[in-house]
Amino acid sequence: MASVETTETEGLAGEDGVRRRDFINIAAVSFASAGAVAVVVPLVNQMNPSADVLALASTEVDLSSIQPGQAIKTTFRSQPLFVRQLTPKEIEEADKVDASTLRDPQTLEERTVDGKKQWLVTMGVCTHLGCVPLGAGEGENKGEYGGYFCPCHGSSYDTAARIRKGPAPKNLEVPKFSFTSDTAILVG
Ligand code: FES
Repeated sequence: MASVETTETEGLAGEDGVRRRDFINIAAVSFASAGAVAVVVPLVNQMNPSADVLALASTEVDLSSIQPGQAIKTTFRSQPLFVRQLTPKEIEEADKVDASTLRDPQTLEERTVDGKKQWLVTMGVCTHLGCVPLGAGEGENKGEYGGYFCPCHGSSYDTAARIRKGPAPKNLEVPKFSFTSDTAILVG
């Protein structure tokens, strides 16, 4: 009987021992995890963009003052941005071109938002060496294809801002944008 009691006592003591070790291990792991969180959170916070960086990341443009045939120059991420309302004639001129014959084949549809083909939004940066093309300002030279003309080395872009002549290899870039209302877009 005595040996049985001793065994039971040792057994209980053993379980307590195990429980104590488990508790110590769990406590140590929990403490380590809390430490890891304490280290990770400030790192994650440092990686989150600040408000001014977020403001630079997107640009809202009011379209209400841009009449058909007019364009405005603004900036997006510190680079020139052109926003243009095409006239029906300019849309027709862009549409009658066989896109497969172009240096950088794209249709006007592919460069604009569904149902809002008249709104052409492009970067104002020539894809040759980065000059700012003419054509967005009142009375500026739009080049022989009626879109934009780069005075640096003579690249001409058409009414869909696609490269048609000169050394530029690509169409003017269309940034990511969406309509936030009938008269406003958010670029970026
Ligand atoms: S930078 Fe525009 S044509 Fe060279």
